Order: sequence, then structure tokens, then C-alpha cells
Amino acid sequence: MGDKMATLTIDGNELQLPVYNGSEGPSVMDISSLYKDSGYFTYDPGFLSTASCESSITFIDGEKGILRYRGYDIDELAENCDYLSTCHLLLYGELPDAAQKEWFDRKMTLHTMAHEQLQFMMRGFPRRAHPMAIMVGAAASLSAFYHDSLDINDPEQRELAAFRMIAKMPTIAAMCYKYSIGQPFVYPDNDLGFAENFLHMMFATPCEKYKVSPILADAMDKILILHADHEQNASTSTVRLAGSSGANPFACVGAGIASLWGPAHGGANEAVINMLEEIENVKNIPEFIERAKDKNDPFRLMGFGHRVYKNYDPRAKVLRQTCKQVLEELGIKDEPLLDIAVELEKIALEDEYFVERKLYPNVDFYSGIIYKAMGIPASMYTVLFAIARTSGWVAQWKEMIEDPKQKIGRPRQLFTGPEGRHLDGSVIRKTA
Ligand code: SDX
Repeated sequence: MGDKMATLTIDGNELQLPVYNGSEGPSVMDISSLYKDSGYFTYDPGFLSTASCESSITFIDGEKGILRYRGYDIDELAENCDYLSTCHLLLYGELPDAAQKEWFDRKMTLHTMAHEQLQFMMRGFPRRAHPMAIMVGAAASLSAFYHDSLDINDPEQRELAAFRMIAKMPTIAAMCYKYSIGQPFVYPDNDLGFAENFLHMMFATPCEKYKVSPILADAMDKILILHADHEQNASTSTVRLAGSSGANPFACVGAGIASLWGPAHGGANEAVINMLEEIENVKNIPEFIERAKDKNDPFRLMGFGHRVYKNYDPRAKVLRQTCKQVLEELGIKDEPLLDIAVELEKIALEDEYFVERKLYPNVDFYSGIIYKAMGIPASMYTVLFAIARTSGWVAQWKEMIEDPKQKIGRPRQLFTGPEGRHLDGSVIRKTA
């Protein structure tokens, strides 16, 4: 971990803070004894300079636009692997060999069915409910059905919960979609691949055979890989914090889905499509660029900017290529939203405001155009993000539970509220 020390001088006292070096990326100063030794907290709203944990799963270099799962570059994985192999990599640290892949894929397949009672919970929602509202509840509710995978201290139960969570998300997501359009639920088909099975459950009906386009299944599988994990983002940090109290993994994933729903995070893909439709025409772009720069206007260029990437998001690069392939496969010659997106990106990347702040397209900028071309409604876009990210959430949750240094997460605060006072208005004297 390195033997360098950082020195902090405060109130005439000199404190030595251990410095740890990782295998990649910035080193850290261990401040865990700072309050005990100095009576001070650190203060970092939004955690711009705070490492919440040690992890060996995903590495991001924001300046260079690097994203690696267990050391492999995201574009190399997206081009050469499938989503289930990526899940194995995130969970166990290595891509599966042939025997492991056969075992892992079969295990996943056998866990794709959702408990038959789940549909009755779903039927309690209005059909016009936002699917994320159902997903938040459905994911957490799995702990009501699967009591044999709730003991977080049992490695076998942890693994079973991980399989169930990853495998059932596409089934539940497709059920949300079918429920919203009044069509019957389609059960998983064990003869289909992971992404193919999801598209089949989304678009097949009991009335006739439905063949999923292999190009679209491949594109969906690639999209799932790109969205699988992303270091300590808001929803992953939510899953870790929820899990740090010992909450069961299904409830923790429910908390992660809630955090992902926000438009500043995973909800941005839905917001991007809504924004592109609001722009409506390439000639309106300058007006929206000006609005995005106006501090008095809450409008932001959705799908642009990132807390970590100060370069092009490597996932956006792959998705931009995938977008063109899917539109070509579907014979969509001119998609106005893609024209607007490409022109918007070009103008923004030449504009001083965006250049100065290093605001580039992120993972959400192109994904919605692909989903729209596939016939998936905008309200389902963040649900697709949640399907993919479930593998990252459960891998990070598993790593946290298995970390011998793991403690309940309990941040402190800078209190600026009223000082002690009595109901009669007198002040409570401060004690030393
Ligand atoms: C995801 O963390 C992850 O890894 C997330 C994610 C994952 O895989 O888990 O990558 C997925 O959430 C991608 C991000 C999706 N969100 C959006 O596309 C929403 C639009 N983007 C912004 O809301 C914003 O860029 C954030 C939330 C993504 C990042 O915000 P930060 O890091 O808190 O940065 P900031 O708001 O402090 O912005 C810095 C400056 C500000 O201007 P100044 O105060 O310096 O003058 O840049 C401006 C911001 O106003 N700015 C934008 C902008 N994003 C930042 N201005 C216009 N449009 C934008 N999109």
C-alpha cells in the first residue's frame, strides 16, 4: 500500500496521514483517524475528492477517457466478448474459460424466470406507471420470494442472490413493458441467449413465432456490456451504502435503481431523447446551446458532461458506431434525431463554454437513439441501463461484503443549524 506520509498541520498540531498507492490512478490519503486525532471532519459534498472504498473491479481515467473492467479496455470487451462473460469477469475477476462459460451461462439461464406471484404485485400498478417505479419495487420485492439467498454471510447464498438478480432483471423489465401496453407477459426461452431472450420477451406475442434479429441481439448485448459497471458512481455507491448495513442484495439493488433513475445519472438517456425531440430541428440547436450555458436556465445539455470523464466517454464512442449499425440494419436511412445529435455534438465540441469545462458526450447521448430505432419506448431506456448495471452493482456489493475492512457507512456533517435552546427561548450553554 506504500509507505509515504502526508503531513497536515492544524491548530499547531502536525498530523501524519498514511498515503496508499493503488495499481492505477490517484493515490489516497487515509483520513480515517483524522477526527479522533484532530477533532476535525473533512468536507467534500458530492465526493469530488473522496475515495469511498478500495476496489479491484473497474478503473476509469477521466483525463484519458479510459474505462477498464478488471484491466480490460471496454472497447476490447465490447468487440470480443458477450454480456454474460463480462458478468463473470466482474463477479470473479476473470473471463470464463469454455467450461466455466458453459456452467455460468446455464446457471444464468435457469434463473431467468420470475416467481409467478410477482405479476400480481405488478398488476397492482396503473398501466401508465413509469416502468422505473415498478422496477424499484420489483427488484427489492424479490427478497420476499427468495428466502434461501438472503443470508449475506453465506458465500453460496450471496452467489445465488447475484445469479437471481442479474438473470431476472430482463424478465421483470419485459414484464413492465408488456404490462404498460396491455399485452400478455412472455416467459423466458431457455434456448435463447441473454440479450436475444430479453428482446424476445419484449416483442414476441403468444399469437405467432417471433425471431429476434441477430444484429439487434448483438447490439443489445454490446450495450449491456458498455453499461455493466462504472466504478463508484451514484447508484453503485448507493448499493454499497445500503449493503454496508447488512441489507439483503435485492433491497440494495432496489436502492441502486432508485438512484439510477435521476436525470443527472441513468435517467439521462430518457432525458436525451426528450431533449432531441424538443430541439426538433437542427436550426434550433444554437438556441438550446445558449440555454445550456445560461445559469438562470435550468436546461442542461443532457447526455453531455461527466464527473469523471474530461474527455470523450469511451462508451459513447462505441455507442455512436453501434447506433449507425443498428439504423443501417433496420434500413432507417434518415433518423432526424441522429442528425440533430451529431450536429449538436459538433457545435458543442467547438463552443468555448463546453471546451473550457471539458464537457463531452457521455454514455447516455447515443443510447436512446438506438433504443428508439429498436422500437423501445423512452420510458424503458433507464430500465435497460438498470438491467446492465445490475451485474456491476452485485459485483461491487459482493466485493464490499467480502472486504474484511468493511464497516457500516456513516458520514458526518458540517452542522450550521440552530444552537441548543430551550422552549422558553433561553440558550443552552455550550460545554467545553
Ligand atoms: C451517468 O458517475 C458515473 O459514472 C455516471 C455514469 C455511470 O456509468 O454510472 O457514467 C452514467 O450518469 C452519465 C451522466 C449522465 N447525465 C447527464 O448527461 C446529465 C447532464 N450532465 C450534467 O448534469 C453533469 O455533467 C453531470 C451531473 C453528469 C456531472 O456534473 P458535475 O460533475 O457535478 O459537474 P458540474 O455540474 O459541477 O458541472 C461543471 C460545470 C458547471 O458550470 P460552472 O458552474 O463551472 O460554470 O459544467 C457545467 C455546469 O453548469 N455543466 C453543464 C453540463 N454539465 C455540466 N452545462 C450544460 N450542460 C451540461 N450537460
